[in-house]
Amino acid sequence: MTAPEAGDQVHTATVTLTVNGESRALEVDTRTSLLDLLREHLGLTGSKKGCDHGQCGACTVLIGGRRANACLALAVAHDGAEVTTVEGLADGDALHPLQDAFIRYDAFQCGYCTPGQLCSAAGMLTEGGPSAVTADLTGDPALTPGEIRERMSGNLCRCGAYVNIVRAVTAVSTAGTEP
Ligand code: FES
Ligand code: FES
Repeated sequence: MTAPEAGDQVHTATVTLTVNGESRALEVDTRTSLLDLLREHLGLTGSKKGCDHGQCGACTVLIGGRRANACLALAVAHDGAEVTTVEGLADGDALHPLQDAFIRYDAFQCGYCTPGQLCSAAGMLTEGGPSAVTADLTGDPALTPGEIRERMSGNLCRCGAYVNIVRAVTAVSTAGTEP
């Protein structure tokens, strides 16, 4: 976001969110994205800013349980929402099954895309319905590697860790059985 210049009129608003189970209220410039609110105002830097244009998925968080690109979400438009970031996936010291699987399957290299991959996968696992690659449109398809690749296609990995990302997500989606 371009910094306001002298003479610019800055409009602010109070935004109240439940972030990772904790109620947070803060006054922000109405142009603030949810990603900047999380990173710059709340210090939750797990969500990454890759492109800031909705193209890479590094900023993916869950809003009301549904995955969303936080860089495209205006914070004021989500007043009252429940937001889960990668910092909120684990249950205390117990990793989320996806976090555990990403480690076991070596599903990252630099790790920059990983928070977005994890939040996207967590959201995806609760979604049903067909995708663009589903042949039978009458039910909820099995999460085959092809389905996972399609449904996670908004999350780019510059390191190319896709093969093991799909293996890790498959391991969780099949309730721990080996892919
Ligand atoms: S930083 Fe949001 S999609 Fe790239
Ligand atoms: S692990 Fe480096 S961008 Fe995905």
